[in-house]
Amino acid sequence: MTARPVEISAVDLFCGVGGLSHGLQDAGIQVAAGVDLDPDCDYPYRTNIRAPFHERDVRDLTVDELAAMWPTGAVRVLAGCAPCQPFSSYRRGVDTSKEAQWPLVDEVRRLVEGTLPEIVTMENVPRIGSTPIFKGFVARLRELGYRVDFASRYCPAYGVPQHRRRMVLVASLLGDIVVPEGERAPADYITVRQVIGDLPPVGNGEAHPGDRLHRSRTLNDRNLERIRQSTPGGTWEEWPEELRAPCHRKASGATFRNVYARMVWDEPSPTITTLAHNFGAGRFGHPEQDRPITLREAAILQSFPEDYEFVAPDDRVEFASLGRLIGNAVPPRLAQAVGKAIVEHVRAVKGPVRKASRSKVVPVG
Ligand SMILES: C[S@@+](CC[C@H](N)C(=O)[O-])C[C@H]1O[C@@H](n2cnc3c(N)ncnc32)[C@H](O)[C@@H]1O
Repeated sequence: MTARPVEISAVDLFCGVGGLSHGLQDAGIQVAAGVDLDPDCDYPYRTNIRAPFHERDVRDLTVDELAAMWPTGAVRVLAGCAPCQPFSSYRRGVDTSKEAQWPLVDEVRRLVEGTLPEIVTMENVPRIGSTPIFKGFVARLRELGYRVDFASRYCPAYGVPQHRRRMVLVASLLGDIVVPEGERAPADYITVRQVIGDLPPVGNGEAHPGDRLHRSRTLNDRNLERIRQSTPGGTWEEWPEELRAPCHRKASGATFRNVYARMVWDEPSPTITTLAHNFGAGRFGHPEQDRPITLREAAILQSFPEDYEFVAPDDRVEFASLGRLIGNAVPPRLAQAVGKAIVEHVRAVKGPVRKASRSKVVPVG
């Protein structure tokens, strides 16, 4: 008699718009639910992931409530990508340990202790690896019987067209599990041109009629002149003196060179932050059109599919909110690689795995 295939089912805490959930689904993992306190995640999560979205503060989520989200008999995955702002390198030197988001890793720990899911995964900025809260989390997982692996990984190696490093953790009660290596060599990294080079052009501050998200933020006259003077990969040092800001005249160093700048066509993009629609906030100028990248371009550079839906038809396209949701997401292609490693691990221990597909019905609530 052949064994019945096992189902792998994930609950995604801090699910955002579903970057991580989408990647897990692409790997064949069923996504049982997402939890996030931001109401702006409701529409994109339910529409794209087609799984229930719980608009909840993870701190208030009980062990019993979480346990009830997984289907009976499935190998349970708990994903807990707590917000990375307290650990971001932009915050180096600032004592962030008193901030409200800091203890959220401990909330993941509380829920792991209470439910003992077979698999745990987490993604965050690399700097989290040296923090006491992360080290305590790993130590506790090991005490609970988990095999744990974590590593800082470079996203272009996973097919993400973007320079981005992230810490990935995987842990299993079933046996040894490892964070997968990216399979692409530098010569095969996906470039800006390959993913957004064919999108229809849009003007400064305009939106494409066929896609409301393919909209660029408006540059004022001064910044329009600045971007006209910018070359892909160049810096504001090429501009005429009168276009430079006082901070530019004084500043030196790589960080300051990478603002008010254009992306390069034939490389992965810079890290897509929550402000990637803003020319002054990084190397976020389009390589040849005189405008910052659009929200759609930012999402594609995060490796979201071109038709991923972020905003309900009747809602306004808000740069601040959508920029935050897109910039904070786990790149789906990185999540897919982690998902595949989980599927392979479960298959090695338990035998055949039932491949899940996205549900056809959009559950409400
Ligand atoms: C790094 S983002 C998660 C990205 C998401 N995993 C994805 O792949 O798209 C962190 C998320 O945590 C949410 N968040 C912050 N504090 C929270 C809390 N106390 N309870 C629930 N969600 C919270 C934020 O709204 C944000 O969407």
